[in-house]
Amino acid sequence: MRSGASPKRRNTAHQTVGNDPGRVACAELSSWVNAMWLPAKCAAAGRGVWASRLCVLRRSGSNTAAFMPEAAGFGGVSGRAALQDFSLSDGDSFWAAAARHRLSWSRPFRTVRDCDLSRGRIKWFEDGELNVSVNCLDRHVHTCPERVALIWERDERGSEVRYTYRELLEMTCRVGNLLRRRGVKKGDCVTIYMPTCPLAVASMLACARIGAAHNVVFAGFSAEALAERIRDAQSSTVITVNQGVRGGKVTELKKTVDAAVQSCPTVQQVFVAMRTEKPVTMTARDVAMEEEMLKEDVVCEPAAMSSEDILFLLYTSGSTGKPKGLVHTQAGYLLYAALTHRYVFSYQDGDVFGCVADIGWITGHSYTVYGPLANGATTVLFESTPVYPDPGRYWDMVERLKINQFYGAPTAIRLLLRYGDQWVNKYDRSSLKTLGSVGEPINTEAWEWYHRVVGEGRCPVVDTWWQTETGGICIAPKPSEPDAEIVPGMAMRPFFGIKPVLMDAEGKVLTTNNTSGALCMAQPWPGMARTIHNDHQRFIETYFRPYPGYFFTGDGAYRSKEGYYQITGRLDDVINVSGHRIGTAEIEDVVNQCPAVAESAVIGYSHSIKGEAVYAFVVLKKDVNVPEAELSKELKSIVSEKIAKYASPDLIQFVKRLPKTRSGKIMRRVLRKVVESDLDSLGDLSTLDDPTAVQEIIQGHQELLSKGQL
Ligand code: WTA
Repeated sequence: MRSGASPKRRNTAHQTVGNDPGRVACAELSSWVNAMWLPAKCAAAGRGVWASRLCVLRRSGSNTAAFMPEAAGFGGVSGRAALQDFSLSDGDSFWAAAARHRLSWSRPFRTVRDCDLSRGRIKWFEDGELNVSVNCLDRHVHTCPERVALIWERDERGSEVRYTYRELLEMTCRVGNLLRRRGVKKGDCVTIYMPTCPLAVASMLACARIGAAHNVVFAGFSAEALAERIRDAQSSTVITVNQGVRGGKVTELKKTVDAAVQSCPTVQQVFVAMRTEKPVTMTARDVAMEEEMLKEDVVCEPAAMSSEDILFLLYTSGSTGKPKGLVHTQAGYLLYAALTHRYVFSYQDGDVFGCVADIGWITGHSYTVYGPLANGATTVLFESTPVYPDPGRYWDMVERLKINQFYGAPTAIRLLLRYGDQWVNKYDRSSLKTLGSVGEPINTEAWEWYHRVVGEGRCPVVDTWWQTETGGICIAPKPSEPDAEIVPGMAMRPFFGIKPVLMDAEGKVLTTNNTSGALCMAQPWPGMARTIHNDHQRFIETYFRPYPGYFFTGDGAYRSKEGYYQITGRLDDVINVSGHRIGTAEIEDVVNQCPAVAESAVIGYSHSIKGEAVYAFVVLKKDVNVPEAELSKELKSIVSEKIAKYASPDLIQFVKRLPKTRSGKIMRRVLRKVVESDLDSLGDLSTLDDPTAVQEIIQGHQELLSKGQL
């Protein structure tokens, strides 16, 4: 049977869709296709359904229903602010309608949510069954098979490749069948170590199709970091490529996997796809991926997954040395990614969506893969860098691919603005409608440049705040009324169903405006992470214990007079280098492994391009005689090798001692003040074990400054 439609499975959800004839007609297309939502501009059957929907909207004459069709069932809710209120006051009705309308279910859910934040219990849409790959592929293939799903913007400029929804489904089915034939079962976890490319997307979707979880590891991570993640995820299967190509440079990804799996006894097979033509040594454990895919059928029966089955793990840094594998599940995550993709970016059917994040991060998961594909969008896979082969790369791509929404990181914007406007103005950016920013605070200068130069002053800039933990965007200027103001450098408004609160130092909710505090969420939402793989206790302690009854984000925020939110930065020992999260403890663990090092303390300091950069204070063992410059070089390369390049310290200051409390705790606050040259606010040093340590550190820091190293 083609296209993965399953005649055996009756889509009982369709029995609840009411009496819209368009819907019923479409429901007959396939038991897996949900007629409740179809993209516009579709060929054949889809057009009929859409036309009938438009009639309904026109008849109702409601702006709100045109904006969000399911709002028609919300009893007269009108306007976006009212929708927001409704999503909080009657979350069950809001999310039930959204879930029925936006997702295709093979079995309807019975309860909307069963959550208790005080216990870290989060469950959405229980008893419902669906398949995420069917939602992202099959239902679009039924209505518009030749619509382009992916545009792969390869590293080599001008060599982009397009894949239609039909082609992506076929590729996914072949990978799904291959995984199944090679023993991957529902509930297994497959590690994917690949650059951003179509086969990586097909691999993620193939896992979803057969019910395996995926664990995508950013291809910039070292063998050791990869091994740690494979072991923690207990993967027996890894998917990689022979080599990666980025910014004109080749990276030996297969070799990195070879090194990693040596310390991963669980790994039984490694699928190797060919990104370049260079052959690599294959062992008995390795499988030539494309060759084997050719032997597979283009139809793959989708597994019926419960809403709360695991969709993926994604490792991220926390405040201890051990990265945490955050767990996202099926229905809630997909719904939240799809809804935020549509409303934050004002995505419209037929738009080309360009999120330039790597698929190894949550942004790549939610806004390169799942959100856009669930909405039937054309999504861009960007394999290159913002400056390769020159600083016009993004805008040349916008012109060539006619990108409508561009979503990138402040660090790249700051880098590009230094090269000057001519690299932007060279290209036609008239296709752009919305510009997005993510991953770190965007400073006003970068925001203004993005808005004025890149967007010619006519595209709204959406500064989106969210995290690996939140699954999708939680605070962003949009959705809002069409003429509502957007303040530069502010994420501003909570998304539907999001209720931010600020807490004071005593854990009390701050109720006034024009105030700052710890950012928490007072209500659960479908996209939030469900647990930390293998460590539910850590999940509870990190996110739910600090403020009982609330989800704690780890960030601080300011709420303006008008009630808008601005993120002020992390409150824990996590830093953000070029938009990439890294725990200072992870870096310290690696630095401390060096035989010459007695101990170390790592902090972030502000950097004009990267946002934050890594500063390491290192105490050497007594008998070490190696020159500091040499040691410094060695420590930097050890961190690159053991974690990733971005985690490598920009500055290393060798000190005799670290400032510590009498109980032995390192006073990082003091180190931060020294590096910020804010000596007036060093605070009370009387609790320090030896206050003279601070004077030495200040002196050493000033020497680095005078040498022009800062
Ligand atoms: C930071 C990335 C300010 C924040 C999607 C958060 C931001 C961490 C913004 C999550 C923003 C993300 N303004 N800070 N718009 N977006 N952050 O898990 O500190 O890689 O906690 O998710 O990035 O990083 P993560």
